[in-house]
Amino acid sequence: MHEPRKLYVKSFGCQMNVYDSNRMADTLAKEGYVETQDPADADLVILNTCHIREKAAEKVYSELGRLRKAKQEAGSDTVIAVAGCVAQAEGAEIIKRAPVVDLVVGPQSYHRLPEMLAQVKGGRRVVDTDFPAEDKFDHLPAPSAAATRKRGPTAFVTVQEGCDKFCTFCVVPYTRGAEVSRPVAKILGEARALVAQGVREITLIGQNVNAFHGEGPDGKTWGLGRLLEELAGIDRLERLRYTTSHPRDMDDGLIAAHRDLPQLMPYLHLPVQSGSDRILAAMNRRHGSALFFEIIDKLRAARPDIALSSDFIVGFPGETEADFQATLDMAERVGFASAYSFKYSIRPGTPAAEHGDQLSESVKSERLARLHQVLEASKTAFDRACLGRRFDILLEKPGRLPGQLIGRSPYLQSVVVTAPPAGIGEFVTVDITEVGPNSLAGRVVDAVEDRGRTSDRPLAAMEA
Ligand code: 5AD
Ligand code: SF4
Repeated sequence: MHEPRKLYVKSFGCQMNVYDSNRMADTLAKEGYVETQDPADADLVILNTCHIREKAAEKVYSELGRLRKAKQEAGSDTVIAVAGCVAQAEGAEIIKRAPVVDLVVGPQSYHRLPEMLAQVKGGRRVVDTDFPAEDKFDHLPAPSAAATRKRGPTAFVTVQEGCDKFCTFCVVPYTRGAEVSRPVAKILGEARALVAQGVREITLIGQNVNAFHGEGPDGKTWGLGRLLEELAGIDRLERLRYTTSHPRDMDDGLIAAHRDLPQLMPYLHLPVQSGSDRILAAMNRRHGSALFFEIIDKLRAARPDIALSSDFIVGFPGETEADFQATLDMAERVGFASAYSFKYSIRPGTPAAEHGDQLSESVKSERLARLHQVLEASKTAFDRACLGRRFDILLEKPGRLPGQLIGRSPYLQSVVVTAPPAGIGEFVTVDITEVGPNSLAGRVVDAVEDRGRTSDRPLAAMEA
């Protein structure tokens, strides 16, 4: 009997890549590959890359440099594959720049990995960045129960891919292509299978997830609100989330889902990018600040405890100090529970890259620091206000210290508690006792009354 082949997958960038990496691992598990956490130990290394900003895209080349050195030193014949958005955007260029690469595979072709690997074994270099007509999801196998268990009680499910919005700074419409929604029946099937394997929380993902318009079992087109409603009917699926959204696609059906579905967590990541109407127009965001505020008001009316998160870009071409001030004002006014902010990064092939009025690195850095300060203050205020509150926490993994577990609050905060390892995958009621910069700590009060089950619970002895 020979040793199983080993696979090391490293994901960069967004949740979509995490999901895709898992699906690649599932596909290759069928071919006899087992996952390893050590690239030096791997027969196949896959870098699942991100192209969203220059820094993200460059990371892959430094990683490839490291791999080349390690491979030379060990004299190994590890196969090296580049997947994801850099693969899609740069194709064969990657092999020119980094000859250590054997295989370049775009996000729409992962189901063909086994064939491509066979070609690589035959001594060929392979580049596949086609957008094939067939649905890759039909060919990607479902995870085994063991794989799902290892990945924990939360899972991602892709409901749509691609984007038709064409924001002028963004590569996504080029790397991930036009918007395609999966049929509702397939999404429900995948969700049910995950729940049967122990998953308790599902995050629906897509580059523009709330543009979802999948074919329903009734033959009609369903929006995301309707899909969430159906998912909320799955027994033992206790939590739902979705990301990443566009403000223009926050329709009334989706806002109503926040009002009506207790499973839908009161936390929404809604990127706005800028508070300036002039810049929003230049970004082709298709809405102004007024619509964004209106949506926030509607969401808060529908779900008063909702917390918001967002993405911002500073230093977009032509951004004046007054434009930037409007962004700061928006951040102050909304009071985000968390947010990401980025310096504008020129992406070749996008309209904003051609803009004459590019800002200097120093202006971008200075604005980023100022915005960061406002967003951090607002995050800290939100976290501090959680002190003394009682949350249901879904326990996900062991903590740093023995006896500790880490779970997530409804607001996606990491919460550290003292609990036995058997608690992983279960919900507990926790009183928040400490607020740190990166996580909260809490005391387990009780196991959460399980709606779907009456039998004994491993958490009965949880209060330590
Ligand atoms: N420069 C800087 N940030 C960008 N993002 C997307 N494209 C760029 C770019 N060219 C940010 C946006 C988006 C997030 C995923 O990345 O804020 O919401
Ligand atoms: Fe990119 Fe999002 Fe705009 Fe689509 S909506 S182009 S993914 S920033």
